[in-house]
Order: sequence, then C-alpha cells, then structure tokens
Amino acid sequence: MSSENDEILKNEVHNFWNQSACGTFLVDKEKYTLEYFEDLEKLRYSMQPEIPIFAKFAESEGKKVLEVGVGAGTDFLQWVRSGAIAYGIDLTEEAIEHVKHRLNLYNLKAEQYAVADSEHLPFADNTFDIVYSWGVIHHTPDTQKALHEIVRVCKPNGTIKVMIYHRHSLLAYFFWIKHALLKFRPWKSISWILWNYMESKGTKAFTKKEVIKMLENQPVEIINIHPVLSYYDRLERFNKLFQIISKFASILLGGNKVGWELLIELQKK
Ligand SMILES: C[S@@+](CC[C@H](N)C(=O)[O-])C[C@H]1O[C@@H](n2cnc3c(N)ncnc32)[C@H](O)[C@@H]1O
Repeated sequence: MSSENDEILKNEVHNFWNQSACGTFLVDKEKYTLEYFEDLEKLRYSMQPEIPIFAKFAESEGKKVLEVGVGAGTDFLQWVRSGAIAYGIDLTEEAIEHVKHRLNLYNLKAEQYAVADSEHLPFADNTFDIVYSWGVIHHTPDTQKALHEIVRVCKPNGTIKVMIYHRHSLLAYFFWIKHALLKFRPWKSISWILWNYMESKGTKAFTKKEVIKMLENQPVEIINIHPVLSYYDRLERFNKLFQIISKFASILLGGNKVGWELLIELQKK
C-alpha cells in the first residue's frame, strides 16, 4: 500500500477508536466516574485473565515501562500501581483523556502519556526496560514498522511483550463463517473479512511464521511466541449452544493452537 493510502487508513483507524475507547461500550455507568472505571477493570480481567499472567505487572516496580496503545488505560493503571516509571501512548485523544481522568481519580501519577503513533514512537533508542502492547499494532497500517519501533526503543536486555491477533484461530474462522460463508461468498479470504469487519478498518491477523519473518534482522531473541484461546474464541458472549460448538472445535483443532491472541515475548539483544 502507498504511504498516502496508509495515512488515509490510519485516519480511519484514529476516527474509529476516538469515538469510543476500547471496551468502554461494555460498561453502562456514567463516563469517567469511579463506577465506570471499576466496572471496566473488573470486566477486563474477568473476561481476559490471561492479560495479567502475560504482562506480569507486579515485576515492573522501579522499571521504565512503555505501553503502546493504552486504550481506556486499564493495563496502564496496573503499571502505575505496580510502581513502574510508566509512559503510555495512543493514537487517539479519547484514550489519553481516559488515562488522565483515571489517574486523577485514583490520585496516581505516571511519568508521561500522550497521543503518538506506534509507527513513529517519540522516544530515543534503548530507552525502556519493558515495552508492552496489547491488541494494538495489528490495527496500524504498517505493523512491521510498529514492531520495529517497539524493538528500537527497548533497552538491550529489556523485555518486549506484544499481543497481536492470530489468523489461524477459532474467532477468525467464526468470523469467516459469518461474513463469507453465510453471505454466500466463500471465496473471500479470512484476511479480507478481518480487514473489513473486525473493529477498525484494516485490521490484520498474523501467523507465528509471519511474526518471525517480521523480526528477521532485528536485535532480539525470541523468548516465546504462542497463541492462546480467548473469551472471543470461546464465544462466551453467546448462548450455551455456541459455546459447546466452540469447545468441540477447539478440541478438534488443538486447543490454544487456534487461539485469537498471539502472545509474543522477546528480549532485546
Ligand atoms: C483494541 S484497542 C486496544 C487498547 C488497549 N491496549 C486494550 O487492550 O484495551 C486498539 C488501540 O490501538 C490504538 N491504535 C491503533 N493504531 C495505533 C497507532 N498507529 N499508534 C498508537 N495506537 C494505535 C487505538 O487507538 C486503540 O486505542
């Protein structure tokens, strides 16, 4: 895609997430109140208990942490609470406003949070002990560039933790059934369906092989890249019948191997 098209798409991505920060549509409390933020937090970690296990917030005390794509700021709050020297960025003003209200409400302070683009991180090389990003860089037009930026700003021996969407996953297959098969256009690819129907326009999902390829020639050691089944693969939003179908499909297809969340852990060399 040309860089001009990339900028048009990025603008669409910005407008989509700026209307409503990630996950906030699930909460019906008044915006920016304590109840609103408490509900957001409870909901997030009950639906996705894998997040704190992966992030290991408590181990960040005294460390310089950058979160790329803070969204409504629930994970960002955990870095701050854990005593990290926390920096956060997001493409949208709405996300940064959420973080501002949230920290003020709990009387907490972060080092810095601002609107910025993951493809052009406004930090010097080798700045952070931990760079973390959950569910973000598959939305930006040049995911590889964003991944390389994350590597660039991480210190040697620092840790990188990124979740991106996994193409060979139950959720991607279910999306394809809904938007391709049931609409009598089975020739449409999973990538096309995700690009057009999954959250903001242009969303991508990757395989483990593609992630390894994006990391070629990067100064990193791959600690672990593996998918995990998520709340969304398990169809927990739907009735019992759908959940049973998902359970059978996951048993047949290898359990976590067909999870939607591809967890990437790297160490910078
Ligand atoms: C699915 S939400 C995830 C937010 C948060 N990490 C979470 O898990 O709730 C995607 C976020 O990525 C942000 N985003 C998309 N493209 C971005 C970019 N190029 N740079 C920074 N943030 C971006 C959006 O603004 C949105 O807040």
